Amino acid sequence: MELRMLKWTWPFLLFGVAQWPVVTNGLRNGLALTPPMGWLHWERFLCETDCEKEPYTCVSERLFMEMADVMVYQGWLDAGYQYLCIDDCWLAPKRDAQNRLQADPVRFPSGIKKLADYVHARGLRLGIYQDVGKQTCAGFPGSQNYYELDAQTFSEWEVDLLKFDGCYYGTLEQLEDGYRRMSMALNRTGRNIVLSCEWPLYARPLKKVNYSEVAEYCNSWRNFGDISDSWSSVKSVLDWTAVLQDSLVPAAGPGAWNDPDMLVIGNFGLSWDQQVTQMALWCIMAAPLLMSNDLREISAESKALLQNKEVIAINQDCLGAQGYRILKVDSFELWEKPLFGGSLAVSVTNRNEIGGPRRFLLSRIMLWKGTACGDVCYVTQLLPTRKEYGYFNTTGILSLSVNPSGTVLLRID
Ligand code: GLA
Repeated sequence: MELRMLKWTWPFLLFGVAQWPVVTNGLRNGLALTPPMGWLHWERFLCETDCEKEPYTCVSERLFMEMADVMVYQGWLDAGYQYLCIDDCWLAPKRDAQNRLQADPVRFPSGIKKLADYVHARGLRLGIYQDVGKQTCAGFPGSQNYYELDAQTFSEWEVDLLKFDGCYYGTLEQLEDGYRRMSMALNRTGRNIVLSCEWPLYARPLKKVNYSEVAEYCNSWRNFGDISDSWSSVKSVLDWTAVLQDSLVPAAGPGAWNDPDMLVIGNFGLSWDQQVTQMALWCIMAAPLLMSNDLREISAESKALLQNKEVIAINQDCLGAQGYRILKVDSFELWEKPLFGGSLAVSVTNRNEIGGPRRFLLSRIMLWKGTACGDVCYVTQLLPTRKEYGYFNTTGILSLSVNPSGTVLLRID
């Protein structure tokens, strides 16, 4: 399982100035070689614990079993969404007599091991949530002082991913030490458990984050506060990512991903064009694709967007390069993501929230010169609808119509 992770640094701001790939040490567990894909309950279902009042939406084994079934029968697993992840509020208020974690007995009467069996029988993987500090963010028992025991418990339950939060961490030293310890404890169990961290989010106010160290211990990490079901929230994630891209982008690669938080597509807050923008940009950013929505009642439109295989392929590209913003002009944003074999994904977002569709003239010199296609690049538009533009030579200009708060996503081969 000891893999040497290849990490790439990519050009920022200056067109066509590529740096050489550099080798750094990612978490050497051989997992998450492409961004993890799945479903996570938090944004949509939060911490509803009253199953008498809200049996359909409370955080319970019923919710996860129903979601597991839908993921298999409605094509989500086939599209690549494999991790079914529990977030906060699954725990009983206290550890058991041996200090072991236990699920809430009313809401998870069969226990987590049985739920893992159910999920595995359907070809899915199970994710769970804990916290590096004394308590989880919602006030349930945290892992501080119990890293070894909790890692062992998760391994015995056959959990496949741990989202490890950072509330109530104590000192910066305890926070950082806790993440290192849990990572090593998980490795020692011998089970393949993807580790999703929030280390940089909590450390950033106190120090300059050392991303190569974070990447040594975590498969993915959150940098910013929680996403919510709104366009302003999605925009703020994009803006922060672009501002910090010089430190974020070089840290990402196979086994180690910046996590801009959940996809909220299919909920209540985003218009169609804004959903297209979230999907396109999360793919450009090589983000983990963890949906938080209700798959039991999602619209056909949102489902088709989330299951679009050509779009997902941009996210899952095996080169594992995180895309970056190369241009911000006249309320347009241009991002690109290098793909395996010299191809390129390109997105154009219209950040105007007034007026109608606007034209953006895309020329080859705006893009990274290293695209291997040379004079004869072939352009396919993947979003908002599929369209073939044909060949795009070095002097060619593409005229793209982009809706307000919408995005055009292209693939250039
Ligand atoms: C923090 C995390 C969220 C979610 C909640 C749960 O706020 O950042 O993603 O896990 O805790 O309490």
